[in-house]
Amino acid sequence: MQKIHAAITAVGGYVPEYVLTNAELETMMDTTDEWIQSRTGIKERRILKGEGKGSSDMAVAAVQNLLEKKGIDPKEIEMVICATTTPDMQFPATANVICDKAGMTKAWGYDVSAACSGFLFALTIGSQFIETGRHKKVIVIGVDKMSSIMNYEDRKTSIIFGDGAGCVLLEPNTDGYGLLDSVLRTDGSGRVFLHQKAGGSVKPATLETVMNKEHYVYQEGQAVFKFAVKNMADVAADIMTRNNLTAETVDWLVPHQANKRIINATSERMNLPAEKVMVNIERYGNTTNGTLPLCLWEWESKLKKGDNLVLAAFGGGFTWGASYIRWAY
Ligand code: UT7
Repeated sequence: MQKIHAAITAVGGYVPEYVLTNAELETMMDTTDEWIQSRTGIKERRILKGEGKGSSDMAVAAVQNLLEKKGIDPKEIEMVICATTTPDMQFPATANVICDKAGMTKAWGYDVSAACSGFLFALTIGSQFIETGRHKKVIVIGVDKMSSIMNYEDRKTSIIFGDGAGCVLLEPNTDGYGLLDSVLRTDGSGRVFLHQKAGGSVKPATLETVMNKEHYVYQEGQAVFKFAVKNMADVAADIMTRNNLTAETVDWLVPHQANKRIINATSERMNLPAEKVMVNIERYGNTTNGTLPLCLWEWESKLKKGDNLVLAAFGGGFTWGASYIRWAY
């Protein structure tokens, strides 16, 4: 019998209704639509509005979308891994909240924290439970309500982020389809360039940390950009070499959507034409853990059984990686 691989057999997604356009940002800070579009490729992003609404609400909507499309009962799900940088609360894990709200009462799960690479990391972790035969139905979610940690007075950072959720169902496959390889990396020395200064155990919340705006994303954009451009392209090239993939045999690049210029650098390194690259950054901006599954969600109808997909991401930590998937349906 062939090795068991974890195949993606369904995809779900959700983006909030509210559209925050570059034109609206112009009224909030000293910026222009022209600057944002030319430097990032972003035209608008979605924002989750409503008191008491958090990442779990978007994740639940994405999971329900997946379960309805696939026609399966929430009680069939055995495990849920939620990749997020904006959990509902410090504890318990947002995965637990999602299981409760979506009726996945037979599942266990936890959160994965790896910033923008979180979905890739969680996908690899979830796949292990399928490959070992431990579980038959695992849901992996990528979700973030980035607006909850955004300082809209910081024009260098706030313009790129948005809110959204996506998820995939993993099931065993013995015909050679599914997640075939991953290269995952971390470099903790990069944490100084992209982090949240307060609210953790090193610097718990105080009046002072709030007054100093230390609960927002702190990003040194140019430094992050340099690392992202190099490492995301390197790791995508690496996964191609390891798996004897060429520009002809790769059908799709599914890149993290942080900046159109980083996406372009990665696809150029892979020699891929634009029509093989999933890009929706102009409409959603950078939804952090949400970007990769939201691309799969939007492109699902174009994907064919046997397509070779390369997923690539880079994010805070630093964390980065690439995965090779042979599409199963
Ligand atoms: O997803 C996780 C990882 N994150 C990333 O991959 C993000 C990587 N970084 C980036 O995408 C880019 O660095 C940003 C889009 C965040 C910023 O673009 P940049 O080209 O690196 O801009 P910069 O910060 O170097 O600023 C260049 C100039 C500055 O003016 P001076 O000092 O040259 O006069 C900024 O003050 O552009 C100015 N600027 C703006 N002007 C209008 C910065 N932000 C804005 C703005 N509107 N929103």
